[in-house]
Amino acid sequence: MTIKVLGSGAGGGFPQWNCNCDNCAGVRTGRLNALPRSQSSIALSGNGSDWLLVNASPDIRQQFMEFPALQPGAAKRDTAMRAVLLIDSQIDHTTGLLMLREHTAPLQVWCSRSVYADLTSGFPVLRMLEHYCGVEWHEIPLDGSGFEIDGVAGLSFVAHPLSSKAAPYSPHRTDPHPGDNIGLSVRDAQTGRSLFYAPGLARLDAHLEAPMRDADLLLVDGTCWTDDEMQGCGVGTRRAQAMGHLAQSGPGGMLDALRPFERQRKVLIHINNTNPILDEDSAERAALTAAGIEVSHDGMEMRL
Ligand code: MLT
Ligand code: MN
Ligand code: ZN
Repeated sequence: MTIKVLGSGAGGGFPQWNCNCDNCAGVRTGRLNALPRSQSSIALSGNGSDWLLVNASPDIRQQFMEFPALQPGAAKRDTAMRAVLLIDSQIDHTTGLLMLREHTAPLQVWCSRSVYADLTSGFPVLRMLEHYCGVEWHEIPLDGSGFEIDGVAGLSFVAHPLSSKAAPYSPHRTDPHPGDNIGLSVRDAQTGRSLFYAPGLARLDAHLEAPMRDADLLLVDGTCWTDDEMQGCGVGTRRAQAMGHLAQSGPGGMLDALRPFERQRKVLIHINNTNPILDEDSAERAALTAAGIEVSHDGMEMRL
């Protein structure tokens, strides 16, 4: 399986258009040793030619241009993207759907029932697409049963309901439903190796232990270093936990939570622009490296 990181940033990307926090200002002026990052999305393939888009970010045009494998060029209108899977209904994971409206066949969209509800109510993008390419919705099962995706050969999937948060615009933002956010296990039938992917993860609940142990690569929530980071940077008051994200530092933080997973490769994704780990020379980045945890970047490719 090939895992291509199309976007490693959280909502807003890095630098964020209107932000002058130390990180955003620093990367804009080149003062900081840091890479710009587009918004959260990955592409997966079992055979290198048919791809599943996992999350459709607002930066999708740039992301597709920078990853030529998505454009095989065999027909006047063509794509190697066979389907789109959404792990939640957040703006950074779903607004790219609008940019896919020129698709020449109905978009094959995989998401949970509660994400489907958001995307046909609070943000009715799936309804809007009916006036363009159309959509075929495939419900992601939440009972642990495996599923396969037509056209995405060699990969099998299991979804795990997560403790996180529905999108701020969701009619049930404060009333969590199972399936508002999911983690994903993806296994390659040929190599037998597997990925655990969860870019929005507020807590490592007990039911995640087994799928995480089972995985060879953990690609997980790297949004914030500290829970009150937005406040500390003077750019807002929302706490990471309240937004559905487990901060890396502190007791019970992501560093602690990942420590028992010694066999697995551990990589963070969905990095918020306030996070000090974006500065490659920071003490926080060094602490991650010492703990054997990597930070993903746009264009990063991993094989399993
Ligand atoms: C999140 O991951 O919490 C959201 O992307 C935040 C947002 O949309 O601003
Ligand atoms: Mn997000
Ligand atoms: Zn910023």
